[in-house]
Amino acid sequence: MPLKQKDLLGIEGLDRSDIEHIIATADSLKEVSTRDIKKVPALRGKTIVNLFYEPSTRTRTSFELAGKRLSADVINMSVSTSSVVKGETLLDTVMNIEAMNSDIIIIRHSMSGAPSLIAKELKSSVINAGDGAHEHPTQALLDLYTIKERLGRTDGLKVAIVGDIAHSRVARSNILCLNKMGVEVRVCGPATLIPAGIEEMGVEVYYRPEEALKDVDAIMMLRIQMERQGSGLFPGVREYSRLFGLNEARVRLAKEGAIIMHPGPINRGVEISPAVADGPYSVILDQVTNGVAVRMAVLYLLSEGRA
Ligand code: CP
Repeated sequence: MPLKQKDLLGIEGLDRSDIEHIIATADSLKEVSTRDIKKVPALRGKTIVNLFYEPSTRTRTSFELAGKRLSADVINMSVSTSSVVKGETLLDTVMNIEAMNSDIIIIRHSMSGAPSLIAKELKSSVINAGDGAHEHPTQALLDLYTIKERLGRTDGLKVAIVGDIAHSRVARSNILCLNKMGVEVRVCGPATLIPAGIEEMGVEVYYRPEEALKDVDAIMMLRIQMERQGSGLFPGVREYSRLFGLNEARVRLAKEGAIIMHPGPINRGVEISPAVADGPYSVILDQVTNGVAVRMAVLYLLSEGRA
C-alpha cells in the first residue's frame, strides 16, 4: 500500500499508522543491503534527484544508496557547480530538473519551508532531507527504527534528547515522531538552547543531565549547531562539555542497557566522550545502517503512490 501523501515534508504530516507502515516496509527492505548483489528492481526506470544546498555525509549518501539499491536512476546535483551560483532561484532550479522528467526530488536547504514551497509547484514527489531548524523527517524515522530494533517497542519508553534543542531539526522531528509513538520525551540543554514554549510540543524540560537522564531507555545526544547560532548562547565548548557532555558516569544514570544515539556528525569530546560514542551501548552506526533501509522504504512508498 503506497503512502497517501505525494511528498514527505515532515513528521507533522504523518499519523501513527503511516509511521508504522514506513517502519514495517524498511524492515522488509533491510536485508537487501546484506546481499552479495544489493539490488532489487522495484524502482527501475524511476529518476531521483538529490539536491543538497547544505553539506551532508549520511543523508545524501544513504539516499543515493537507497535509490540505487531499488534500481532507480539517481542524480546527485552539486549545487556549488550548478547554475545556482549564477543566481538561478530555487524554484527555477527545480522546475528545470522536473522538465527532465524527475520522479522524486530530495532537498536539503537552510531555509525552513523550502521543501514545502517547491512541493506545491512540482508534480515530482519532494522529500525533505532537512530544512533549516524545522524538520528532518527521515532522521526521526531511522531513529525510531533503531529504537524499535534495539528495545523491541516504543509505547511507554522514556527518551532524553540532550543538547542544542533550539537549532535542531532532528530534535523537532524526533519529538513529533516519538510522541506519536507513545514515547515520553525529555529535552535537556542550557536555557539559551531550549526554545521558549517547547513544553507545548508535549515534552518535559530539564536543564541538568543529572536529572534528565535518570531511568531513561535511550539518550539522544545533539551537536551544538554553530552554523545556525549567533554568539553568546553558551559559555564555551569546554564548559558545555563539562556541564552537558555525555560521559560514562552520566550514562550510568539511565536505565540498565539504555541505548546511546546521535544523528551525526559527532564532535568527539564535546557533546559525547569517545568512550561512550564507541562503547557497548552506542547504536550510532546502527542508526546510519538503518538510514538506508528507511530511505529505501520512503522512496518505494512514495513511488508506489505515483504509479
Ligand atoms: N544526520 C545527518 O543529517 O547527517 P548529515 O548531515 O551527514 O546528512
